[in-house]
Amino acid sequence: MKVNVEFAPLLLLFFSLSLCEMAYISEEDDLDLEIQVRTMNKPSIKTFLTKEGDTIDCVDINKQPALDHPQLKDHKVQTKPNLHVTSLHQTSPNAKSIGFGLEEPCPIGTVPIRRVTKEDLIRARSLPGIPSVAAMRQNTDFSNQHVVSLTDNMIENIKYGGGGDVTVYNLTVAHDQFSAHNIWIETGPPEHVSMIAFGWMVSPQLFGDTLSRTFTYWTGDGHRNGCYNVLCPGFVQVDRGIIIGNPVGPTSTYGGSQYEIAIHIQQDKITGNWWLLLTYKAIKVGYWPKELFRYLRNGSLHTAWGGIGMAGSNGSCPPMGSGHRPDGTIDHATVFRRLHWVRSDGKSLPPDKTTTWVDRSNVYDLMNHRRTIFYSGYMISFGGPGGYCKV
Ligand SMILES: *[C@@H]1O[C@H](CO)[C@@H](O)[C@H](O)[C@H]1NC(C)=O
Ligand SMILES: *[C@@H]1O[C@H](CO)[C@@H](O)[C@H](O)[C@H]1NC(C)=O
Ligand SMILES: *[C@@H]1O[C@H](CO)[C@@H](O)[C@H](O)[C@H]1NC(C)=O
Repeated sequence: MKVNVEFAPLLLLFFSLSLCEMAYISEEDDLDLEIQVRTMNKPSIKTFLTKEGDTIDCVDINKQPALDHPQLKDHKVQTKPNLHVTSLHQTSPNAKSIGFGLEEPCPIGTVPIRRVTKEDLIRARSLPGIPSVAAMRQNTDFSNQHVVSLTDNMIENIKYGGGGDVTVYNLTVAHDQFSAHNIWIETGPPEHVSMIAFGWMVSPQLFGDTLSRTFTYWTGDGHRNGCYNVLCPGFVQVDRGIIIGNPVGPTSTYGGSQYEIAIHIQQDKITGNWWLLLTYKAIKVGYWPKELFRYLRNGSLHTAWGGIGMAGSNGSCPPMGSGHRPDGTIDHATVFRRLHWVRSDGKSLPPDKTTTWVDRSNVYDLMNHRRTIFYSGYMISFGGPGGYCKV
């Protein structure tokens, strides 16, 4: 009896420690994070706050955090791509392009980078990477991330890029869920896959809020390296006005106005770097250097378009897209239109031999509209309300 009483407080302590484990940061850990944050945030030429409260640093383009990557030690920033894309303009009768960019861009010679905080790093620790579409189809039951996608499987065609226009909505997402809508460019076996993803997502873990924001994710070697946005060195920013991770708006409404992000990613065949172009004006935002990738050195075998819903700890998937399943009416669900891949000669073509995939048809769906009216090109609509999604 006596022994038990003496041990009780210890046991209690043990219990509360393990319960708090997730939030518990040791002093050593805290110091590590401090150092990490200091290394990541470069001296700023000009700093400002966005209206959503993000701190943006205008950083010397040749001293940006991307260049800390060991593989980029001797990398010279490529300021202009060798691409002949001057516009992604193709008006839609149904949607308006979301404008990007700062009213007052960063000074010449600098690029805008969202400042990283310790809290950002802590939150992002428990965030898994973007799954490979190929890997997801092999083991969907071992993950809490659920994919809907259309993949171009025509591996006879080496793809030097891809893109499309995706509509953006507001979504309600819990702190341990995320909802992503993006293009994938990927090649390689799941254990060593090289991948670039770009689109919009709502992710409290990544951003600390529930706004719809642009995001990138890359890995060069099966998630052994890579990260979201600029949480690790890699993505080289070139444009002075566009911030990766910024909120996007205005957002679309069910049955009402539609707003979309025009996305185009293309490999520069001279340098091998993968460029990101945004909006109808084809603004050259920046690039993923070829040095980052084990595959994707010379084109890609796969491109895919769709969404990912990550279930929270209670097994509930977040809403995706508009929060409604596609029903054939264009302004009822998120639409990815003008889907294209880039041929060796730089020409953009619609996907050819495609497969669609819906991981959890009880909560999400995807409609393949194929080639539709001229303006919309090849189109899919997808998403759903979410809900309990464990098998
Ligand atoms: C989406 O959310 C933002 C931020 O909360 C808000 O300003 C905007 O009005 C919302 N848009 C719609 C269409 O509900
Ligand atoms: C799980 O959590 C989400 C978000 O907090 C909530 O909306 C949902 O009702 C919960 N689901 C279950 C099955 O408890
Ligand atoms: C890339 O692949 C194409 C087609 O196989 C080939 O013609 C070209 O020489 C390759 N380029 C490089 C840089 O390896």
